[in-house]
Amino acid sequence: MKISTIKREWWKEGVVYQIYPRSFQDSNGDGIGDLRGIIQRLDYIASLGIDIVWLNPVYQSPNHDNGYDISDYQNIMDDFGSMEDFDEMLEGFHKRGIKVVMDLVVNHSSSEHKWFKESRSSRDNPYRDYYHWWPAENGTPPERWSFFDEEGSAWAFDEKTNAYYLHYFDKTQPDLNWENPKVREEIFDMMHFWFKKGIDGFRMDVITFISKHDGYPTFEGVHGDKMIDVYASGPRLHQYLHEMNREVLQHYDIMTVAEGPGTNLSNIHDLVDEDRQELNMNYHFEHVELGLDARKIVNSDHRNLVKFKKIMSDWATAFDQKGWGTQWHTNHDFPRQVSWFGDDTAEHREQSSKLLSTFLLTMRGTPYYYMGDEIGMTNAKFDSIDDYDDLMTINWYNLTMAEGGDAQKLLESHKLSGRDNARTPFQWDTSENAGFSSAKPWLKVTDNFKEINAAEQENRPDSPLNYFRELTQLRKDNLALIYGAYALLLAEDENIYAYTRTLDDEVILVLLNYSSSSHVAEIPNVLHNGDVLINNFDTLEKVDAGFSLLPWQAVVLKIK
Ligand code: NOJ
Repeated sequence: MKISTIKREWWKEGVVYQIYPRSFQDSNGDGIGDLRGIIQRLDYIASLGIDIVWLNPVYQSPNHDNGYDISDYQNIMDDFGSMEDFDEMLEGFHKRGIKVVMDLVVNHSSSEHKWFKESRSSRDNPYRDYYHWWPAENGTPPERWSFFDEEGSAWAFDEKTNAYYLHYFDKTQPDLNWENPKVREEIFDMMHFWFKKGIDGFRMDVITFISKHDGYPTFEGVHGDKMIDVYASGPRLHQYLHEMNREVLQHYDIMTVAEGPGTNLSNIHDLVDEDRQELNMNYHFEHVELGLDARKIVNSDHRNLVKFKKIMSDWATAFDQKGWGTQWHTNHDFPRQVSWFGDDTAEHREQSSKLLSTFLLTMRGTPYYYMGDEIGMTNAKFDSIDDYDDLMTINWYNLTMAEGGDAQKLLESHKLSGRDNARTPFQWDTSENAGFSSAKPWLKVTDNFKEINAAEQENRPDSPLNYFRELTQLRKDNLALIYGAYALLLAEDENIYAYTRTLDDEVILVLLNYSSSSHVAEIPNVLHNGDVLINNFDTLEKVDAGFSLLPWQAVVLKIK
């Protein structure tokens, strides 16, 4: 790869840090994180060396799905503060050279949005066509699967007008009708409102689902979560995104990233290639869903490193010529990186967490890093369904019970895979509620906060926190880690993940031992001599065949 031929962009070079505001920092003692809490922590965030913040939804919402059910797109949720707080926070980030990306949740709104209240009030209301309705006199609507519904169906019957409305997620999240030009216009206006305020981009929630198939046809043989691919192949998806680009996006210096369920290596270029004029980046789910069956039941592919490497490598090279990718391990919908991909026992937690961070920051594609991972926060592993807040776990638990299924098995799997694992309050220090709030937090603090917290790690040079800071600097100092070509070594090795990043005549070698025992990385002789750029241990053992790596050792070398 040659730097002279690459189109450099800030959103390719930056590291994104995701903040889940509800769980970051509470400033007013109500047990819920808020915008003023983020303001209090601006210097901490800047100290990480990250460049872009992605903020989960802070818009007005009744909160059935923690802000992903928006009742007013141009106001701030009361729990989080006011628009003045938002402006101050935005300015605070910008002053520190950090860009801010907001969540755009427009596949659906809340059922409490004024559009939906109007829409459901009568069949001839002007807002009726803002949503998808199926008149009950036409019989039962064709099967549509819902991610969250307690009965599994994405059609909810609404008595008032004797019709069903479509909701791919919860009943309280009716899908907006993008086929209606007025809906698109409202959404584009709202996007202009936020860009004019100065935000720097949008992460677009399930944006691949916005176009629905005309007439809601039946899809023979496609049931349950297999419907995701149908949802992502709506006939006018690209038309709408292109229109969005033309009407809104191209007028600002901003970035966009699709949350792309249903995206794969054969359809991704239509979404992110520059000449398509749609979006900049996408995140796929192949790697985080490896090892997961329906309802997030964990299967034996969890931790199959050979399969994992194949997925990551295929995606890392997919954008060699066109488009751009992302790298991520987790977010508010997935378990903590160290619990899912690493080893969260006391013996290996810190080193494995550092290894996972090394991977994200040395791969090709913009890294999306989830708050709390920099200190190696672990899964909460709740024992009881009563500890959960997430409607996904709760609804699936109830659905499994109603079916006479094994609800205990679901609960056991969700200790490893459930969404609430990553939503517990940020562990700041050893004080009550981990320094997150003076009141009882909305979700239990994970009980290891006395050992794992930012205050303890702040002044410890070898802490995961300080290691992460070194990594963000390392990425900035080495363009090869951003733009360099990626090449996988040892594809069949079950323990070692090794690859090179090459830009012009510079070669960087990354060696990662994904296991809790030592292993030799047998690599070609030409890669044996290098300067260590970062190492999560003090030593690196050279052997004839290459390097012998300690459990969860991560080393980055500049080859001489
Ligand atoms: C994806 C979001 O990340 C998730 O938290 C939410 O529940 C669904 N989309 C529905 O908006």
